Amino acid sequence: MTDIVLRVAGISKRFGGLQALSDVGLTIERGQVYGLIGPNGAGKTTFFNVITGLYTPDSGTFELAGQPYKPTAVHEVAKAGIARTFQNIRLFADMTALENVMVGRHVRTQSGLLGAMFRTGKFVTEEAAITKRARELLDYVGIGRLAEYKARTLSYGDQRRLEIARALATDPQLIALDEPAAGMNSTEKVVLRELIDQIRKDGRTILLIEHDVKLVMGLCDRVTVLDYGKQIAEGSPYDVQRDEKVIEAYGPQPQTHRGAADRRAAGRGGDAMSATLLKVSGLKVAYGGIQAVKGVDFEVREGELVTLIGSNGAGKTTTMKAITGLLGINEGDIQYRARASAAAAHGTSSRKASPWCRKAAACSPA
Ligand SMILES: Nc1ncnc2c1ncn2[C@@H]1O[C@H](COP(=O)(O)OP(=O)(O)O)[C@@H](O)[C@H]1O
Ligand SMILES: [Mg+2]
Repeated sequence: MTDIVLRVAGISKRFGGLQALSDVGLTIERGQVYGLIGPNGAGKTTFFNVITGLYTPDSGTFELAGQPYKPTAVHEVAKAGIARTFQNIRLFADMTALENVMVGRHVRTQSGLLGAMFRTGKFVTEEAAITKRARELLDYVGIGRLAEYKARTLSYGDQRRLEIARALATDPQLIALDEPAAGMNSTEKVVLRELIDQIRKDGRTILLIEHDVKLVMGLCDRVTVLDYGKQIAEGSPYDVQRDEKVIEAYGPQPQTHRGAADRRAAGRGGDAMSATLLKVSGLKVAYGGIQAVKGVDFEVREGELVTLIGSNGAGKTTTMKAITGLLGINEGDIQYRARASAAAAHGTSSRKASPWCRKAAACSPA
């Protein structure tokens, strides 16, 4: 007899005029990695939110390890045995990595608030066991050395692994991962894949949301595809990949267009003279010891549209955050209107915006 961990059927969820899920169902066997894929906006996260008690469905039946469960409260669902991670990472940013995992573990503890207040013997023993287990889990996901770092100082890749450790800490029957590879670079993705594979080998059952079809294919035993809230295919990764409806849902590959700058570069002479608005030189930015941006240089001139492109985790958002002052800089500098500022000093510019410069160390306006 097959051992079914999760069986849900007939899930529908409407937001105002939008049918986010229409009659969605799936069955996950123990030990499987089950993939839930579909383009952005297909309803994947809504499905997770419904089965984990964040959203109340309009209809649906739910069974966890043969027992009906009502996904009415997040805490109850965690106790029943489903743990999850979030597409938009939700950690306790100012707590350490270790403390974040300990929070997950507390779902399974007995002492309660009074035990904690009066530090009963049972509480102290339990706390020591929780700390030990939390450290083991940090090692398991590969970030043991970051135990004492605050969650917010970790790279996205490490924060995602921390979320997985916290989810594992609840000893779940099913661990549900919502786009765990989002924001990771290709090396981090390989490591993540190995981790998910290891979690499965260690006997856990995994429900994995991804919009990147390639990532799930080698990893999943079965796959369901959502599009506009409807299930358009279900089966082995091999069959699903070849399904006409799935190919259609993912659409043609993006075309490249020659941009305005290309066109200008091809036929102009004058643009090279326009003032430099923003100049980024040798920019380096790190998160908790991980170098996310390793020497970025570019310029934006007046009237230009400059695009930063690169794969997930390449450092685009980190660069933007450094430019806008949300992150500190380790090396290099960022100059805004440096040339205009010299002109302004000589009374030759009528521009109002003040120039500024950011550097790893203090930097005076150019
Ligand atoms: N809380 C909400 N309120 C209103 N609309 C929502 C809410 N959550 C999701 N949606 C809508 O439901 C649809 C499915 O979204 P989502 O489940 O996030 O898709 P996916 O995770 O597949 O990208 C989208 O059209 C989205 O805008
Ligand atoms: Mg989503």
